[in-house]
Amino acid sequence: MEFSIKSGSPEKQRSACVVVGVFESRKLTLPAELLDKAGGGYIGDIIRRGDMEGKSGTTLLLHNVPGTLCDRVLLVGLGKEKDFREKEFGQAIRTAVKTLNETGAFDASIFLTELAVKKRDVAWRIRQTTIIALDATYRFDQFKSKKDEVRRPLRKLTLGVERRNELTLAEEALAQGQAIAEGMALAKDLGNLPPNVCNPAYLATRAQAMAGELGLNCEILERADMEKLGMQSLLSVANGAHQPPKLIVLGYQGARSGEKPLVLVGKGVTFDTGGISLKPAAEMDEMKYDMCGAASVLGTILAVARMKLSLNLTVIIPATENMPGGNATRPGDIVTSMSGQTIEILNTDAEGRLILCDALSYAERFEPDTVIDVATLTGACVVALGGIASGLFANKDGLARDLLEAGDEAHDRAWHMPLWDDYQELLKSPFADMANIGGRYGGAITAACFLSRFTKKFDWAHLDIAGTAWKSGADKGATGRPVPLLTHYLLQRAGKLN
Ligand code: BES
Ligand code: MN
Ligand code: ZN
Repeated sequence: MEFSIKSGSPEKQRSACVVVGVFESRKLTLPAELLDKAGGGYIGDIIRRGDMEGKSGTTLLLHNVPGTLCDRVLLVGLGKEKDFREKEFGQAIRTAVKTLNETGAFDASIFLTELAVKKRDVAWRIRQTTIIALDATYRFDQFKSKKDEVRRPLRKLTLGVERRNELTLAEEALAQGQAIAEGMALAKDLGNLPPNVCNPAYLATRAQAMAGELGLNCEILERADMEKLGMQSLLSVANGAHQPPKLIVLGYQGARSGEKPLVLVGKGVTFDTGGISLKPAAEMDEMKYDMCGAASVLGTILAVARMKLSLNLTVIIPATENMPGGNATRPGDIVTSMSGQTIEILNTDAEGRLILCDALSYAERFEPDTVIDVATLTGACVVALGGIASGLFANKDGLARDLLEAGDEAHDRAWHMPLWDDYQELLKSPFADMANIGGRYGGAITAACFLSRFTKKFDWAHLDIAGTAWKSGADKGATGRPVPLLTHYLLQRAGKLN
């Protein structure tokens, strides 16, 4: 979709559709009022007749509204004015874009972007609108022989701003929104791909292609390289798989070379059967999404490179399948991680932490400023937080605070969970330095505690995205989360937010 920014009156737009908002109890927003005045009360009359009450989620499409230069006017219900906040703003944009996609209009001028949202400025409104519009029109149909084509899809969206002096800020926000949405689309595509296509080698190839296109550094470590580094924990997960594991490293340099990089580590289990601790059959297909951490860090570095942020960013992806087989790791096996710490593997389905711990040890060599790992790590996190918030853990409170704030701003929220020492006891093993599971309770926390034993040398945060990375059910699909959270954090770090 093509985007542009414009400041001007709605009645003077020569577009196929002009979109304005109406609050509940039939109160017109300013752009709707301007259209009403230009048309001699035409819109007000329709509203008084009760065809549009302004309830959230409702729309009314009007044709040939007098006094306007556009073909159509789309009224969008905004709910009660006193309740209108970030969430309602996002819902209104989503409803508008979905509806526009179903009308005959190829282009539209949207004036909902002029609505005041508490604590948020014009840049936020433009960025969010762009992200939501592209998210709402995302499709994944490359494996359908007959695509369900949209009859006349929306091709061009003009975003209204109230004042001319907001144009520069809005243009920059638009570019940011497009970069973030592109990163999300990449994350969604990789997540949605079937696991026979999206395997470790495929992820490596895509990373190399990105490096070529964006001018990133790229290094792929093979099994032999990992053996030399002593990554026995990571390799123990790959034992049962026929597909060879890969450790993917991508580097973006946007600041001087001496500046310490931020490092993102993404769990890249391209299919998680559980291994010998085999998962039940129901919904096992969804374990193709077990590489969504990897997909999200790739999406984030893509967005960062597109925005040319002035910081250094390194992405590390341990990629493997988790399969059963004659050579697979057994419950009871003890492995030595790259850090030298030994691990008794009591459940081969707790494989995410086993690949992440070696990737986190590997991160040390980049002398990182901060390390954030992203992983579909535990079913327990889904039980705790559902699909609304990602679980956030950190060994530094300031880092947790910054990430929570970035999530709020992006409306891609996380919730801070405890990482107290008291939980560490649950990982005791009679035979090794630690076990890879912590028992029935507090599973998201004990998984994070396990990782914390490999992150003593740097500021570190962990995002458990098991509940937020994809949706199940009728609208099954990857969400692209937490690309918005991560990119907003990095925008903040690069001094590009407020
Ligand atoms: N990839 C799963 C976590 C997961 C499960 C994400 C369901 C989303 C939905 C992870 O590898 C896993 O299997 N974790 C186990 C850990 C347990 C054995 C301690 C889990 O959560 O059941
Ligand atoms: Mn597992
Ligand atoms: Zn897993």
